[in-house]
Amino acid sequence: MNNQSEKPIGVFDSGIGGLTVVRALLERLPNENIVYFGDTARVPYGSKSPQVVREYTLDDTNVLLKKNVKMIVVACNTVSAVALDVVQKRAKLPVTGVITPGAEAASLATENKRVGIIGTAATVNSNAYVNELMRLNPAILPFSKACPLFVPLVEEGWLDAKATEMIANEYIFPLIAERIDTLILGCTHYPLLKDVLAKASKGTATLIDSGEATAAVVEKMLDEHNIRNTSRQAPNVQFFVSDAPEKFTAIGERFLGRKLGVVKRVSFE
Ligand code: DGL
Repeated sequence: MNNQSEKPIGVFDSGIGGLTVVRALLERLPNENIVYFGDTARVPYGSKSPQVVREYTLDDTNVLLKKNVKMIVVACNTVSAVALDVVQKRAKLPVTGVITPGAEAASLATENKRVGIIGTAATVNSNAYVNELMRLNPAILPFSKACPLFVPLVEEGWLDAKATEMIANEYIFPLIAERIDTLILGCTHYPLLKDVLAKASKGTATLIDSGEATAAVVEKMLDEHNIRNTSRQAPNVQFFVSDAPEKFTAIGERFLGRKLGVVKRVSFE
């Protein structure tokens, strides 16, 4: 163990959705200190242009660097898709996004090599998952579908509402018609829709949770860099947002699967 290993892992997202990635990290790496930043003042990122997302990403990275983190996990699929290089260039720390881990898990899971990808408009338009899948295995045939209505439905807590089921059927039907056997949940919010998505895909596709795949990659990276926290002290998980900490606290529990504690507001400088 060294000083570096006791520093927190920095995780950021456009808002609240990245808590699904924190949840996966807490399950796999219960010893790690974590600092989370959600840009709740400027969410959503998924409907914005790559340029704007890249500008926001630099600010988000700076927030985490001020918290003295040892590595950065980009929980947001949209940022991972269009701005991962911005984080890598600025941070000079180990960095991972969620696209490569999710694509790797999907390429291992698929048997018929027909893989569906769902995400925000920005993630789907970037082709980041498609490019990564084809790099990993050129025999894979990817089929993408932007699902912009899912984020507000999840934030409203409509996880198993009739309306959500109908919308999921609309979105997923064209993918099922292509006979996909694997579906990448390429957005932080979608793990909360696993039941609805399993139903919409009529159980024919393995659902890939990019957050879970990312937690496994983070574990590997901590070992590679020899920065795994082996201290016996109870780990500290801190939450920061750029706006409305009360709202974040109220909805956050659903994403994290446990109580959040104190959420503080920070401003960009
Ligand atoms: N966190 C975003 C993502 O995973 C979803 C919410 C947004 O559009 O900002 O793409």
